Amino acid sequence: MSAIPETFRAFVAEKTANGVERGVRPFAAADLPVGEVEVRIDWSSVNYKDALATIPNGKVARISPLIPGIDLAGEVIASDEPSIAVGSSIIAHGYELGVSRHGGYAEYARIPAGWVVPLPAGLTAREAMAIGTAGFTAARSIVELEKRGLTPASGPVLVTGATGGVGRTAVAILVEHGYEVWAVTGKPEAHDEFRALGVAGILGRDEVTAEGRPLEAERWAAAVDSVGAATLPYILRTLRYGGAVAASGNASGPALATTVFPFILRGVALLGIDSVAFPIEERRRLWERLAGDLRPRGLGEAVTEVDLEHLGEALDAILAGKARGRWIVRIGA
Ligand SMILES: NC(=O)c1ccc[n+]([C@@H]2O[C@H](COP(=O)([O-])OP(=O)(O)OC[C@H]3O[C@@H](n4cnc5c(N)ncnc54)[C@H](OP(=O)(O)O)[C@@H]3O)[C@@H](O)[C@H]2O)c1
Repeated sequence: MSAIPETFRAFVAEKTANGVERGVRPFAAADLPVGEVEVRIDWSSVNYKDALATIPNGKVARISPLIPGIDLAGEVIASDEPSIAVGSSIIAHGYELGVSRHGGYAEYARIPAGWVVPLPAGLTAREAMAIGTAGFTAARSIVELEKRGLTPASGPVLVTGATGGVGRTAVAILVEHGYEVWAVTGKPEAHDEFRALGVAGILGRDEVTAEGRPLEAERWAAAVDSVGAATLPYILRTLRYGGAVAASGNASGPALATTVFPFILRGVALLGIDSVAFPIEERRRLWERLAGDLRPRGLGEAVTEVDLEHLGEALDAILAGKARGRWIVRIGA
């Protein structure tokens, strides 16, 4: 028997003849998919992918109507899985959530037990969503770079899309770890905030453009890139010998214009970062680290709260490249 009320409030995106209609409406528990764990959602967050799930040709939504929201944090109210106790606090993100299965923009969700991450001690549900999928992806990027040998002694690390969810969290983790961090941002109004956070330098987007010589002066030991087309070619041709870039996103587009020279003459590496299908055991371990040694500096700052009624405005703003840190969605908290 379900512990979810017969109907509850949800932010729904539904394809129509003219585009996509979206907004808050009553949703029937009977229309949720089957799953072992029922959750009362306290917080969700806004990621670039969530915005794509609510627009025509966004190529994210696989069902309609869809409750978007690729991540959620809340309390278990029913569970068929003995290891997941009723009353426990959990996180879920990625896999099919908010894409082909109803996600976090609702008062309740029903999810597979294999997607559940226990909320680590040391993180509140609100902080977990201030990190969210974007911050988790930033942490994954840094872990992969460090697996390849990056340390603060290696040299400067470049972070692109620095005011975005991935970029802002990457900066906050790296400065906390003592790295010399350089932020690329198209928002001059964010410079003071980055200086206060402890970055060594700031570059404008015009300094890291896609066009350039096949190889340029070696500058960066590593980079965290979530922007893609506009910045990844620059990074590849300016990485130091043996350097690496962790590439997770395409905020400026998916194309990649490069030559093979950075790879064959400087031995640089392009590390692909996925957080969607990332295996659950490793995901749980990485969340433990996000509550511990990878906790971003100033976690909870640069966070804007919205409710379900004002979610549409945040989704539009992230699509327009206006992100300033993270938006979190207050639902049951
Ligand atoms: N691989 C994965 O599993 C995974 C997980 C999470 C996110 N992602 C991807 O990572 C990307 C970033 O996600 P997010 O949630 O951090 O998005 P976001 O909050 O919107 O941040 C993207 C940032 O990129 C910069 N930017 C936007 N448009 C740009 C353009 N045309 N040229 C140059 N810079 C531009 C902006 O930063 P500035 O104004 O500071 O320059 C913006 O704040 C998205 O493509 C997302 O789909 C992938």
